[in-house]
Amino acid sequence: MISFPKKLNIIASQTNSCLKKIFSKQKNNSYLLNPMKYGVFSGGKRFRSAIVVNAGKIYNIDSKKLIIISSAIECIHAYSLIHDDLPSMDNDDFRRGKLSVHKKFNEFTAILAGNSLLTLAFEILSSKDLKINQNQKNDLIKTLSECSGHSGLAGGQYSDLSFENRKVSKNSIINMQKKKTGELFGFCCESIAILKNFTPSKRKKLKQIGINIGLLFQTVDDLVDYKQDSLVIRKLNKNYNKSDKSTFINLIGYDKTLIFAKKVKKKIIKEIKKEYGKRANELVKSVEFILDRKF
Ligand code: IPE
Ligand code: IPE
Ligand code: MG
Ligand code: MG
Ligand code: MG
Repeated sequence: MISFPKKLNIIASQTNSCLKKIFSKQKNNSYLLNPMKYGVFSGGKRFRSAIVVNAGKIYNIDSKKLIIISSAIECIHAYSLIHDDLPSMDNDDFRRGKLSVHKKFNEFTAILAGNSLLTLAFEILSSKDLKINQNQKNDLIKTLSECSGHSGLAGGQYSDLSFENRKVSKNSIINMQKKKTGELFGFCCESIAILKNFTPSKRKKLKQIGINIGLLFQTVDDLVDYKQDSLVIRKLNKNYNKSDKSTFINLIGYDKTLIFAKKVKKKIIKEIKKEYGKRANELVKSVEFILDRKF
């Protein structure tokens, strides 16, 4: 049996080849293509692609369509990280062990490369290569716009940054995480409902599962960041930590955050099994991976 990390690698290389093709087809050879590629091909796990592909497996959806949708999602994700690292946001000089885009290039280039990845996502969804009917296409584009904008990812990033140095409630943190990270995962699952023309209630169910996957993913990301930051502090003897951020860890501590994450994981898996049974085995494995990962 192939392990989940190996399967994730296969999905990552499929998404990467699709994205490479998309970049090679760009008609105008602009300066921004280089920083865009630097941001999008720098060793991301492509975990959101795995959620699309594995949620799509429940209904045997053609993998070519799933990989094109995944490529659009990964462009939004890459844009969000390029902007997230900017001095006015998290001010991180490194990402995935390499210089972040504003450090490798400069700040205005990072802002514009991020913007261009955001718009590229919609170019990908509207392209003829995605062979689905026009109503579904419009629906995908509209839904992804909403998930990415002021009431989704961007709105969540706004909350994340405006919560810095403030004591906020556990519920506010949950809402912030569901927006900044959950909404895009919500779209990963909701896109399957769109391709299957599901009723609003079935569609909402899938989206909610995705949002909770995002909540779990962000909570575990904070746990992983915390461990890594402590290692950096020990190594460099520096007082560097994201202590100004409103995270679960800063509110309730590492151990209670881990307990919370395990509870969220259990709830998601129970829900998936109840709704989709054995057909969703790969999706369940993806959810299990979130807490197992060490990177
Ligand atoms: C990091 O996401 C940012 C969060 C939303 C937590 P990933 O851990 O998916 O980033 P890469 O693309 O694999 O580096
Ligand atoms: C990033 O969250 C969330 C989005 C970019 C939407 P983090 O700020 O925790 O991500 P990392 O730790 O920088 O990857
Ligand atoms: Mg951030
Ligand atoms: Mg950050
Ligand atoms: Mg983080």
